[in-house]
Amino acid sequence: MFKKDKIVGAALLGYGGIAQGWHKDRIREVDGIELVGVYDIKPERMSAAQADGLNTYSSRAAMLADENVDLVIVATPNHVHKELVIDALNSGKNVICEKPVALSSEDLEDMIAAAKKNDRLFTVHQNRRWDQDYLILKEIIKNNSLGRIFNIESRVQGSHGNPGDWRNHKQFGGGMVFDWGVHMLDQALMLMEDSKLLSVYATLTYITTDDCDDGFRATLTFDNDINFYVEVTTSNFIELPRWYMLGLNGSAVITDWDNHGKIVKVTDWENREAVPVQAGAGLTKTMAPRRDDTIAEEPLPYVPRHWNAYYENLVAYFNGKEDIAVTHDQLRRSTKLIEAIFESARTNEVVKFN
Ligand SMILES: NC(=O)c1ccc[n+]([C@@H]2O[C@H](COP(=O)([O-])OP(=O)(O)OC[C@H]3O[C@@H](n4cnc5c(N)ncnc54)[C@H](O)[C@@H]3O)[C@@H](O)[C@H]2O)c1
Repeated sequence: MFKKDKIVGAALLGYGGIAQGWHKDRIREVDGIELVGVYDIKPERMSAAQADGLNTYSSRAAMLADENVDLVIVATPNHVHKELVIDALNSGKNVICEKPVALSSEDLEDMIAAAKKNDRLFTVHQNRRWDQDYLILKEIIKNNSLGRIFNIESRVQGSHGNPGDWRNHKQFGGGMVFDWGVHMLDQALMLMEDSKLLSVYATLTYITTDDCDDGFRATLTFDNDINFYVEVTTSNFIELPRWYMLGLNGSAVITDWDNHGKIVKVTDWENREAVPVQAGAGLTKTMAPRRDDTIAEEPLPYVPRHWNAYYENLVAYFNGKEDIAVTHDQLRRSTKLIEAIFESARTNEVVKFN
C-alpha cells in the first residue's frame, strides 16, 4: 500500500505519442511524483525512452515486479487497455488508463472489479477537463451571465481524416467516437453533472474510412431542457467555432484553441424594433441585426492555464488530501453514452435512457 508523503513512482506502459509528448513532461513538472521507468513492445520506442534519459524495463512483467512502481500509466492503443489494466491491478499496482477507458461497459465493469478486488486506484486520463476553452465555458455557466442556457454546441473539426495508424481500424478501438469523442462527451457530461441525460440521437461519418467512423454528430437532451450538440468531424476545410452557447439573455462563442471569442448580451430585450433588411430575394425584420443600443459585447472570462492539475490531483489523492477527480461512476456514464451513440447511429433512432 502507498505510504503518505512518499514520492509516487510512476511507470509508463507504452511510449508513443501521448506518453512521450505529454505524460513524461507533466510528471517531470509535478512535485510528489517521478517517472521510474518505461516499457513498450517496440524496440524503437524503448530507444526513444532511453534517449529521453529514462529507465527501461526488459518486459512488462519486469515493470510490474518493480517495487518502486506505485502507479502504472497505460498509454497503449485502445484495444489492449482492459488486459493491461487488469494485469497491472492484479500485480498490486495503482493504474491510470488512457482514454477511452474501455470499448464496452462490460469491459469497464471487469476493470473496476479488478481494482476493487485488489484495493487499488483505477482512474482515467480525462485531461481535457482542464482545457481552458472548456473551463471558460464552465465559468460563463457558473456566473449565470447568459440567463437560462438552452443550447450548447461543442465542435472539433479537422481536415486530415483519421490518422493512418491503429486509430483507423475498428479492431484496435479506432474511430473518432473513441478518439476525440470520448473527451468531448466527458466534457458535456461534466458540464451537465447534476442533470439527467434523457436521450441521444447520433450519426457517424465514414467519409475517408470504411472500417471505423471518422467523425460523428450527436444531440444529447437533458432533463434541464438543455440541448447539447457534440460534433467531431475530420473532413472540414472551413471550421465552425469550438463552442457556441445560447441563453435567454445572451450568447457566447469560443472560436478556437487560443480562446478567442466573445459574449453578447441583450441589454434591452423589450426594444425589439428592427428595420427590415434585404435577405436574399426578400426582406426580413425577424432576422435583422439587433440595434446596437439593445445589446452589449463582453470579453470572455479569463481562466488561467493549469495543465498539471490532473497529476497534482493524483498526488493529492495518494496523500489523502483530495478525492480522485475522475471517478468510476463518471466513466460508467460516458461509456454508456458512447454505446448509445453507436446504437443510435446503427438504428437511426433516438436512444432513451431510463
Ligand atoms: N488523453 C489524451 O489527450 C490522449 C491523446 C492522445 C492519445 N491518447 C490515448 O493514449 C493511448 C495511446 O495513444 P498514442 O497516440 O500515444 O498511440 P501511439 O500509437 O503513438 O503509442 C502507443 C504505444 O503503445 C505501444 N504498445 C502497444 N501495445 C503495447 C503493449 N501491449 N505493451 C506495451 N506497449 C504497447 C506501441 O508500441 C506504441 O509505442 C490511446 O489510448 C489514445 O486514445 C490520449
